[in-house]
Amino acid sequence: MTAVDEIKIGGMGASRRRVEDNRFIRGKGNYLDDIVLPGMLHMEILRSPVAHARINSIDISKAMAMPGVRLVLTGEMMAARNLAWMPTLSYDTQAVLATDKVRFQGQEVACVIADDPYIAKDACQAIVVDYEPLPVIVNPSQSLADDAPVIRDDKENQPNNVIYDWEVGDKDGTDRAFAEADVVSEIELHYPRSHPSPIECCGSVADFNRATSKLTVYMTTQAPHIIRAAVALVAELPEHMIRVVSPDIGGGFGNKVPVYPGYVASILASILLERPVKWIEDRTGNLISTGFARDIYLKGQMALRRDGKILGVRMNTLADHGAFFSDAQPSKFKIGLMHSAFACYDIPAAHLVARGVYTNKAPGGVAYRCSFRVTEAMFFQERMVQSAADDLGMDQAEFRRINFVKDDDFPKRTAFGFLTDSGQYGKCLDVGLEAIGYQDFLKEKEEAAKRGRLLGIGISTMTEPLGAGNSREYDILGIKMFDSAELRVHMTGKALLRTGAKTQGQGHETTWAQIVAHELGIPAEDVVVEEGDTDTAPFGMGTYASRSTPVAGAAVAMVSRKIKAKARKIAAHLLEISEEDVEWELGRFYVRSNPERGVTIQECAAAAYSNMPDGMEPGLENVSYYDPPNLTWPFACYIATVEVDPETGVWDVLRVVAVDDCGVRINPMIVEGQIMGGLTEAYAMANMQFITFDAEGNCIGANFTDYLLPTAWETPGFELHEVVTPCPHHPIGAKGIGECAAVGGPAAFVNAVMDALKGTGVRNIDMPVFPDRVYQALQTGEDVSGAPPVRVEA
Ligand code: CDP
Repeated sequence: MTAVDEIKIGGMGASRRRVEDNRFIRGKGNYLDDIVLPGMLHMEILRSPVAHARINSIDISKAMAMPGVRLVLTGEMMAARNLAWMPTLSYDTQAVLATDKVRFQGQEVACVIADDPYIAKDACQAIVVDYEPLPVIVNPSQSLADDAPVIRDDKENQPNNVIYDWEVGDKDGTDRAFAEADVVSEIELHYPRSHPSPIECCGSVADFNRATSKLTVYMTTQAPHIIRAAVALVAELPEHMIRVVSPDIGGGFGNKVPVYPGYVASILASILLERPVKWIEDRTGNLISTGFARDIYLKGQMALRRDGKILGVRMNTLADHGAFFSDAQPSKFKIGLMHSAFACYDIPAAHLVARGVYTNKAPGGVAYRCSFRVTEAMFFQERMVQSAADDLGMDQAEFRRINFVKDDDFPKRTAFGFLTDSGQYGKCLDVGLEAIGYQDFLKEKEEAAKRGRLLGIGISTMTEPLGAGNSREYDILGIKMFDSAELRVHMTGKALLRTGAKTQGQGHETTWAQIVAHELGIPAEDVVVEEGDTDTAPFGMGTYASRSTPVAGAAVAMVSRKIKAKARKIAAHLLEISEEDVEWELGRFYVRSNPERGVTIQECAAAAYSNMPDGMEPGLENVSYYDPPNLTWPFACYIATVEVDPETGVWDVLRVVAVDDCGVRINPMIVEGQIMGGLTEAYAMANMQFITFDAEGNCIGANFTDYLLPTAWETPGFELHEVVTPCPHHPIGAKGIGECAAVGGPAAFVNAVMDALKGTGVRNIDMPVFPDRVYQALQTGEDVSGAPPVRVEA
């Protein structure tokens, strides 16, 4: 007998087809709206039509009188139960149902619970709310004005609209770097609001059983255990009496991390009515009220030596969080991991000043396919780098190469204090330049310019921190960030694996089984993976910020190794030799001096239940909690070429090349899918996704006719390449990949358009880089800002 063939059993490196797709493409997925419980009622939310107003009265009498209506919840009723406000994941409070004021358009004002969703919706229309309008704030400069109304007048010690002031880095060292600079380059931009827009909106089915006192909540959440803790705190229910189940959820992208008022209201309604209560958000509800991303104003300065060396960086960020500071971030860092900017460059000194403010907009700042603001950080970084190269009159690729951290400099401490782990940045750039035909394109661009054609090439290179924790530095509301896996190998050698992560389409059911196959030689098809049920899964922090592979994936490897250690003892017993004489090859233990004599992992599993050594506990199962020593640092190089039509401002993508280094790839096909999806979102952010606000705080872009999702038709093709630098501290050498392309991609497209406009005097056009913005820039030679309020034509 010899070792099993890892690729044949679907181990690491196999482009194994996604097992979850079996049910998805047959229409057999079990999404939240598929859940129907006996006696279930339906909840609808009445939302505020105005962005800032005092509530004088709410009259629910007509709604209550409608046939089929079982309950109408208002803020006053919530307040009577101490539930009008709830804590957020960022140490703030958020209104569940408004009592005193509404603070953004779309805020939850009342809930109707009825026999069917149509009655509930009609009854919402019968609720009469007397609003007294207040001045509306839709951007930070309005928010910081001396005469600005205080949005959060519900909070003690909140005299203005500032949420936090935070700084990090070495201010004096950075000042010194600027004093020595030959050239100082500056950039100012706004990363606009965008919305994660998962295909399935948010929702919950709450089912409180009075007889057992147990609350079961089916919920579209990316982090079931965190939600269970939050429900225990908010509803003051004992944690062991709460079961949160996250079924198949149709995408999350960060939208399904926060706790939403609809979850809380459906739970209270189920407790009061002793019936299951379902709440499913409609598309507009999702777009106007849940988890916005970005919305941040960025100013930067770079101190440069004439030869191209970066000496220092200053960053100034002003984040618009909307009416409540409710997105999740590691407690220590107010502006998430914004200070991971410039981590791939060797920069002696850097300083970041961050401020967050309230505005009359829905809560924002969630990490949309992003590790706590790294998308904004990397966009800022790569826009700044391109501007600096232009200001120096240097080639943008060469400028990057000069300043990259070199391969043998790892582990490398960044100017902001992170420790990057490994990488081959120069090689990734070379692969990308070679693939796009960089030198040829530059010649083509020059030739085209002579004929009045505007070609541009945009590069975006970045390393980003994926996989929070470690628990020393990363926690959310004091809950340490680590993750878990539990593996049960049955008597027949088949296995059940559960983790604290929660897949939303990333393919964990496929890839986690591949890690078990890699570690134990059990075929991946013999391993079933379950996630998302707090009654069965080990405690974990969930899936967001591409943390699953770095943390839960590592836990899968570690628990497999615990299983292997026990199986080794069993093998020694079966082979009647001492453990020291046992050797391992994939799927099999054998006698060192006689490799022909061996036992398979399946035979060991059988013996664990039928023929274990004296004194050994029966069974073959274990659990691992993995606390990573560091974040993983994948690297990416994205290059786009474009042609801009000078007559109209329309720009077309010519080619897109992506070079990703996410360490060892578990499933190359899934990794490529993640990259293509991320680039598609990046292209949409750069080009078409526009959700903004007018001066009255009306949300513009609250449906898919206005807020455009990219389809295959308009999305360009992507040419993918890889470099592999194994992660030195991850048990299988893997780094995260899920969000890299969405994080790094936007700057490649915007840089390409700005490169095409080089020489016009325009330094920045805010995203989305609409043709009319490009046209305006070409006409005026000035930057174009996209910040709200927008003027809406009648
Ligand atoms: O946390 P999330 O699942 O969103 O992101 P991820 O950990 O980067 O993983 C996304 C998908 O890519 C998962 O199915 C991973 O197992 C897979 N992956 C991989 O096959 N190889 C890697 N080096 C990284 C991720």
